[in-house]
Order: sequence, then C-alpha cells, then structure tokens
Amino acid sequence: MLPSVKTVDFLVIGGGVAGLRAAIELASKGSVIVITKDRPTESTTGYAQGGIAVALSDEDEVCIHYEDTIKAGDGLCNENAAKVMVEEGPGYLLELMSWGADFDKEGSKLSFTREAAHTRRRILHSHGDSTGKEIERVLINKARSFPSILRYDFAFTLDLIVENNRCIGASVLKGDKIIHIIAKAVILATGGAGELFSRSTNPMISTGDGIAIAYRAGALIVDMEFVQFHPTTLYSPGAPQFLMTEAMRGEGAVLKNIVGKRFMPEYHEMSELAPRDAVTRAIVSEMVKTESRHVYLDLTHLERDFIKKRFPLIYTTCLQYNIDITEDVIPVCPAAHYIMGGVRTNLDGKTSIKGLFAAGEVACTGVHGANRLASNSLLEGFVYGARAGKGAVRYAEKIKERDIDKTPYNKHVTAAEEQSVTAFDADKTKSSLRQLMWNKVGIIRCEKSLRSAKNRLNKKDFILKETFNNRKGAELKNMLTVAGLITDAALFRKGSVGAHYRSDFTERGENWRKHTVCVKGEKTGWID
Ligand code: FUM
Repeated sequence: MLPSVKTVDFLVIGGGVAGLRAAIELASKGSVIVITKDRPTESTTGYAQGGIAVALSDEDEVCIHYEDTIKAGDGLCNENAAKVMVEEGPGYLLELMSWGADFDKEGSKLSFTREAAHTRRRILHSHGDSTGKEIERVLINKARSFPSILRYDFAFTLDLIVENNRCIGASVLKGDKIIHIIAKAVILATGGAGELFSRSTNPMISTGDGIAIAYRAGALIVDMEFVQFHPTTLYSPGAPQFLMTEAMRGEGAVLKNIVGKRFMPEYHEMSELAPRDAVTRAIVSEMVKTESRHVYLDLTHLERDFIKKRFPLIYTTCLQYNIDITEDVIPVCPAAHYIMGGVRTNLDGKTSIKGLFAAGEVACTGVHGANRLASNSLLEGFVYGARAGKGAVRYAEKIKERDIDKTPYNKHVTAAEEQSVTAFDADKTKSSLRQLMWNKVGIIRCEKSLRSAKNRLNKKDFILKETFNNRKGAELKNMLTVAGLITDAALFRKGSVGAHYRSDFTERGENWRKHTVCVKGEKTGWID
C-alpha cells in the first residue's frame, strides 16, 4: 500500500512545552500539525515537579539568574543563549499566567521556592509539586483554541525527509499507515533520552527519537556526554523510580547515609543545595562507602502540615509504598534525568539542516552547558520553543511554495516497506541496553567501562541497518543510535566537566572549553 502524502505549512514533532509553545507561535502564520507519539498529555513536561525558574520575585534579578545558570554550567554554557533565556523568560511566564496558569501563591504574591545551585528563591510551582501538569494543561488548551493547529496523536516519526540538506517533512507512522507529511519547515521538540538508562526519572517515551532522526538526516549533534543524573528518586522494592523534587531540599530536607549521618556538608559548601552533579556524585560516594544501594532524604524535621501541602503528590505516592514522608526518611538513589547535549541550534532554533528547527531537551542551544541549573528546562522550552517558531516562520516566508512531487517521497516508503528480516527480541535488547548504559556509561565512567559498552553496542549494529515500520523496532533503533552517540562523546572527552565524570581523567583535560560533535559518517570531534 502506498503511503499517503499530507501537506502543511509547519510540522511540529513533540507536544511538550517547547513543541506546544512553538505551535502557538506558528498558529497565526499557517497550518500546523503537532505530532505526539503517545497521548497528548504524555510528555516529560507533564512530569515536572519542582517548577520553573524565572527571575520574577522581588528579591531576584535577571543578572543573578544568569550568573547562577553560568556557574552551574561549569564553563560550557553558551553565554548569549543563557542571557536570552533569563531575559526573555519572565515575559513568557507572565503571558502563560494571562492564559490561565495557576502558580502557587503566598497571600496575593507568587510563591517562589529554591532548588540546588540557585542563590535566590526563584522557582514557581503549581499545586505544590505538579507544576509540569499545570503548564501542559494550559498550553494544550491554548493550542486547541487555534483552528489552524491539527494534532496527530499516537503518531510515531520514523524519519525526516531531507533532500539536498533541506528538510521538507517527515515520514510518520500512524496506526499501520505511513504518512509523508510535507512541510515548509519542521520543528523537532521530542524531548530527551532518559529511557536509555535503567534508572530514569523520565517517562517511557523518552527514547531519544529526535536526536536519532536528526543524526540520521545528517544534523550536527553536540555535547552528548553531558547526561544529568538527578540525585534523588525513590528507591524502594516494587516502587517506581519516582522523582523526589529538589525543591524538597530547597525547603530544608537533608541527605543522610544509611547509618543516619548527614554527609553533604563534607562534600560541598552549598551542602544539599550544591549543583546537581556534585550532589549525585556525593551520594554515589556514600553508597559505595556504606555498601548500600541508596541513601536517605529526610524532611521529618519540617512541619507535617507544611509537607503535605507543599508536596501533595510525593506524599500520596510514597504512602502507597508505606512511606509517610512526614515521619519516615525516604530511601533515594540517583537516576538519569536530562540530556544537556542534542541537536545543535542557534538562538532561533535553526539546526545545521535547512528547514529543520529544534527546541527543548532535544536541542542543544548551549544554555545548560555541562550541567543544567535546576528548573531551567521548562523556561528554555518556552523561550526557545517560541524562538524556533519565529525562526521557522521567517524561513518559510523566504522559500517558494513547493510543487509536491510524489516520486521522491515514495522512495522513503519503499524503504519502510522493506521490513526488517533479522530476528531479535526487541524487549530483551532494550532491557540489556538500559542496564549497559547505567552500569558502563552512567554517573562515573572510565575508558574501560566505555570501551566495554562500545563493544557491546557494536554487536547490535545490525539493528541500526534495519528499517522498521513499527514503533517498537524504530524506538529501539533510536535508542541504540543515541546510546552510541553518548558513548562515543564520553570516550572522546578525556576529562571531567559538569555532569561528565571520568574516574580516569578527573581533571578538566585538554580542549575542555570546546564541545564534542558527532556527525553521521564522521568520527567524533571538537567544535567551538
Ligand atoms: O527536582 C526537580 O523538581 C527537578 C527539576 C528539574 O529537573 O528542573
């Protein structure tokens, strides 16, 4: 059966904060399709607990938010990108509130909390610890109000359609049908790749699809070694790896090892509010010292009513596993949380492929450097989602209306119909990949662990050569692609910076101020 071809002005792949904010920007400029591979509400955005960092409080200033962002990024932030984010961020948040976003207040004033490495209370939150849900709700409703925005849910993007280094659309699997969506400009906003690791805070959809399809299309992929591990997720038999927001430490929770000793003051002057990478490594060090699989997060010294009101989702979730966080210490362990690297973009979301834009976690604007400042990602999604939208409009205005010639699109379909023939167990391969990445390419890496990961990944190379027209196979191929990119970049950077820690190169190393770059068909290298 031949695929159908659908034309639209703008195609947005991904329905989290960056994708929706881009779509809203585009809505008055042409027809827009927003693709999500699952339910419309299933995005990493929806799972965000702690909040969104923005310099809106009386005690804060944009320049202080900027300094904190740069400091956490450990020398590798794109300073212009960070400046744009902190300066433009407040406007987008005020706009969101005018669309109905309900952030928590103290009296009539917005309530701000603190998280790691912030020198001010600047994190807005909603319903205590359900900030992402509120943001997603408002953006979905806003997007729905534009008749020009059409949604394709449960639609999986197999590949981008690129001709002469120009992206003209994407091949999308919807049900058992392949649709070639041809667009003047495409915006990738597919989120991250936390699902690559066996311990992850991310939803299962975070399989690195956007990075993988952009890489296959020839885009520049940068800084892939920088994977952020969140210090505190629930560690309890039978319980999910549920995030224990950093805002808990911001409100006074402390970390203790399994013999009940508070340890962070020995590791960092900011104690529990040290940058995330530092807290994560301190926890690992204590776990090793005490031969334990977890440490404890303790907020039992805080008022019971305050805890229940401030962290209602965490309170009720933990109770299901017989942990009353107002009385009991919480067993916690780090988990993969966010990838700082991704598809390289400029400040307007432009990638190295014409017509292809990227925003949010899939992109690397450079705002986060080597270690993202907590709660900056939602802000980045707003600012750079809107910017990518504006960039796509400018690009589309310049190109001539294209005559849709079906022939070139058919070649992608033919390929998709040539189904994979090699037998392998996708579930088993995925599970062992996740273990491999956690054990060998995780929080602490070295040449030996990375080489052994690389050898194991090489044995799965045959999957990268397959063509899939089902979500499971295509996702696995994407995961293996991104796992290879992370491993290559981690091997290449022989030094430790931010979230990338090599036990065999604990100093920063040569060229540390440069960025690693992976391009299909070329060896990993450096880029400014
Ligand atoms: O701890 C948290 O609530 C996570 C925040 C973030 O990753 O930005």
